[in-house]
Amino acid sequence: MANEHISSTPRTRLPRHVAVIMDGNGRWAKQRHLPRFAGHRSGLESVRSMVKLCLHYRIEALTLFAFSSENWRRPKEEVGLLMNLFMTALDKEVGKLHKNGIRLRIVGDTDAFSPELQRRIADAESLTRDNTALTLAVAVNYGGRWDITEAARSLAAAVASGEIRPEDITPDALGERLALSELPEPDLFIRTGGEQRISNFLLWQLAYTELYFTPLLWPEFREAGFEAALDSFASRQRRFGKTGDQVEQEDA
Ligand code: IPE
Ligand code: IPE
Ligand code: MG
Repeated sequence: MANEHISSTPRTRLPRHVAVIMDGNGRWAKQRHLPRFAGHRSGLESVRSMVKLCLHYRIEALTLFAFSSENWRRPKEEVGLLMNLFMTALDKEVGKLHKNGIRLRIVGDTDAFSPELQRRIADAESLTRDNTALTLAVAVNYGGRWDITEAARSLAAAVASGEIRPEDITPDALGERLALSELPEPDLFIRTGGEQRISNFLLWQLAYTELYFTPLLWPEFREAGFEAALDSFASRQRRFGKTGDQVEQEDA
C-alpha cells in the first residue's frame, strides 16, 4: 500500500484512543449528483485510511460511529442499504483485520439486528478477540443515552440482588458498566462534515476528550485529514482541571 500521505516526522503526543463521527457522506454524494449510498460506500475508503494510520502510529483504539440509534428515522431504503453495507463490509474486511492483528468490537444495541447479523458480529468478535495491534470499535445502533441507561439498569439490578449497596454507586462503578469500559477514554474526538454537535455519541466517555471538528466530508477525510487532526491534538494542553503552570511543571 502506498504511504505517501503518512508523514515521516515522528509524532510525540499521540492519542491512545480516537473516536470519530463519520459525517457528510450524503452531502459528498449530492455534490457529485450521485445517490447518497455512493457516499456511504466511498466513506469506507476513509475507514481503511484511518485504520492504516492508527496501525502506523500504534494508536491503541479507534471507535467509529457507523449508525446511531436515531438513524432509524431515515428513509427505509437508506437504512436497508446502510445495514447491507455494514454486513458486507464486516464479511469482507474481517479476515484482513485479523491478519493485521486488529481486535474488532461492535458496540450498540445489537438486539435490534437480525439473528444472522448478530451471529456474524459474534463470530467476527470471537475470531479477533486476542489481537493486540489495534482495537477497532464500531458503534452501530448506538446512543450515548442508551449506553448510560443500560449501565444504570445494571447497577439497579446489582443493588436489587444485594450484590452492591446504593452507596457503592460511584462514577467509576457506572463507568465500568458502559460500552468500551475496557479501553482508555477517548483522547481525541473527530467529527467530519462541518456539524459541531455530539449527536448522542459517547456522552459519558467524552467528558475530557479533545474535540476536533472539520468541514471535510467523510469520504474526503482520508490520511491527510487524519494527520491534520493529529497535529491539532498534539498542539493542545490537556489540563484536567489543573492550571497550565502545573501541567508544564509535570511535563518538564
Ligand atoms: C454519515 O453521513 C453516515 C451516517 C449517518 C450513517 P450522512 O449520511 O449523515 O451524510 P450527510 O450528513 O447527509 O451529508
Ligand atoms: C451521526 O451522524 C451518526 C453517524 C455518523 C453514524 P448524523 O448525520 O446522523 O447526525 P445528525 O442527526 O445530523 O446530528
Ligand atoms: Mg449527517
